[in-house]
Order: sequence, then C-alpha cells, then structure tokens
Amino acid sequence: MKVDGTHYRSLWWDADKGALQIIDQRWLPHDFRVQSVTTMEDFAAAIVEMRVRGAPLIGATAAYGMALAMAQDPSDANMDAAWTYLNATRPTAINLRWALDRCRAALRPLPPADRAAAALTLAHEIADEDVEINRNIGLNGLELIKQIAAEKPAGEPVRLLTHCNAGWIATVDWGTATSPMYHAHDAGIALHVWVDETRPRNQGALTSWELGSHGIPHTYITDNAGGHLMQHGQVDMVITGTDRTTRRGDVCNKIGTYLKALAAKDNGVPFYVALPSPTIDWTVTDGVAEIPIEERDARETTHIQGRTEAGEIGVVQVTPDGTPGGNPAFDVTPNHLVTGLITERGVCEASAAGLAQLFPEMTKAAE
Ligand code: MRU
Repeated sequence: MKVDGTHYRSLWWDADKGALQIIDQRWLPHDFRVQSVTTMEDFAAAIVEMRVRGAPLIGATAAYGMALAMAQDPSDANMDAAWTYLNATRPTAINLRWALDRCRAALRPLPPADRAAAALTLAHEIADEDVEINRNIGLNGLELIKQIAAEKPAGEPVRLLTHCNAGWIATVDWGTATSPMYHAHDAGIALHVWVDETRPRNQGALTSWELGSHGIPHTYITDNAGGHLMQHGQVDMVITGTDRTTRRGDVCNKIGTYLKALAAKDNGVPFYVALPSPTIDWTVTDGVAEIPIEERDARETTHIQGRTEAGEIGVVQVTPDGTPGGNPAFDVTPNHLVTGLITERGVCEASAAGLAQLFPEMTKAAE
C-alpha cells in the first residue's frame, strides 16, 4: 500500500545490496525507517524485537532468513540449525513454522550447490503468494461488507471494528483484516473503522496510520470501549486477524480479541476473522489447550513509547517503580464465538467441516 503516495511492500529484496529490506516497525507511526537485514542475528532480532511483526510477515521474513543461511552454508546441518534458530524467535504465529517447513522440504532434495539460489527464489514466491492471498481475502470480505451496506440507509457508513494491526505492514501487502476495508473503500462504500488501541504495544496506532494514509475514516478507541459501542448499535461487524487458527476454527490472535468476540456475541454483532491458509495449524484442534501463548517482557506493560510534544520519540514509565507486569501477548477465541472465517478461497463457518470444505487437500494431508 502507499506511504506518502509511494507504493511499498512491508519487505522487499534489494538486488544491488544483495539484502532484504524491511520497514522497522518499532518507530511507526512516528518515523518511517527502512533497514537492511544482513546477518542471521539480524533476522532473529528483527522478529524478536518486532521490527517486523504480524503472522504472515514473520513467515515471509523467516523464508529470507533461510535464504541467507543457504548462501552462507548450504549443508543439511546448517539448514536444520537455521530452522531451529529462526523457529525459536516467536512461539505463537504458525506462519513462522509453516514458512520454515516449506523451505526445508523444498531445499532438502536439492544438491547443496543449488540451494542458495533456490531458497531466494522460494522466499520471493512466498512473499508474492502472501500478497495474492490477502488480495483475495479482501475481495471475499468485500462481499460481506457490501451486504451490510445494502441494508443501511443511503450514505450511512458501514461501521467496522478491528483489533491489533492485521494491516499491510503485518503482511507483505494488503493486510488480512484490512484488505476488505481497502477494497470496500476503493469500491466507493462509505466506511468508518473503530480501531482498538491494542495495549500494551498499541498496534492500533499502526492501523490508524495505515487507514489514514489510505483515506479511510476511523477512530482510535481504548481497548475497553468496544463493548459499549456494540451495546449502543455502533458496530456493524468486527474483523480481526489471526496468528494461528486450529483445524476446527479456534482463533488465536492478539490479546483482547477474545473479549471483543464475547461482547460481539452478547450484542449480535457478526465477528469475522480474516484467515490466510498458511495461518491454519492443521495439527492442532483445541486452541485454548494446545496453542503456545507468547509471554512478552513485562516492561511493555509498565512503560509506553510515544512522541513528545517536542517531536522526540521516547519511552515513559506509567506504573510505580518496581510494579510487576504480566504480559500474555495472545488469546484464543473458541470457534463458537466466530461468525465466519474469510479466507483466500471464500468465507466459511469456523468449524472443522467449514475449513475442510474450502481446503479438502489440507484436511486429508493432516489425517
Ligand atoms: O504481536 P504482533 O503484533 O505480531 O501480533 C499481530 C497480530 O496479532 C495480528 O492480528 C495477526 O498477526 C494477524 S496479521 C495479518
């Protein structure tokens, strides 16, 4: 999508530098900084420190990390070491393991001399596929938004609510939850998006930056406001992203998503999840019992980053000295709270049968 009128992907390959370029998201929305990623340590730090973040983008970045590993040493042993090293960076988003597995399965049968070039080609393929997947999620989600718009008095916007940043910078392009928004806006449908701040890291500020750059009307709200807005008929539909969805449609996403789903259920508001197929973990069924939830540094809860009135980016402490913080980064929304899953192949029920209908080959392979 565009930044100040120029089209960007969230990562790209610079052939002259022979290096992956990323947008360092730690400085957004206040500063737009591009960084080269040139060592394995850089790749791991980029994911751990959330310079790159969002499930699909983590997966694509890891694929480029595998390409670097193969350029350095294409042996089986180094391939396995790179898989283990990169896979340990963040535990919840399944796209990381999906991308690493895909790279390893494709590269293992090749002679070592061919692996570096093949790995780079595969990383490009994974990035390009992500763009296409998200574009199609947008087109499928657009149909749902059109249906809501058709039932509203002329000129009244469709009011959406989203949590975290499942936007273009969380993917290679388009975003997942935001892709239907971009498509609807571009199709001339009036929208208004309630953007949850998403404490502790305030990924909602990233979503606001994205939507603002595309001219989509939105309001940044506290995490606790969504239930109230739903009670007062101010939300027509919730769309969130996902970091890992189980084979029966339980959805693991940014902490606080579950509470939004509960409020949506209580108020009869449709709760949809934008789901690229690489985010489905076909090996797990019960999300609450089986998905590992990342526990991040407590400092993210006790301190907050922002821009001062003087224009400097800085960090302030919000709690008394020594206050212990707790920081589970994701939660699981059980499938019975999810109205539907918006995938690149269409919209389905959040159930084993729904997913099996759209992805029969994947269901069979997992059996
Ligand atoms: O901790 P983050 O910022 O990486 O978490 C991101 C999310 O929870 C997104 O909603 C999810 O990855 C979907 S991104 C299209």
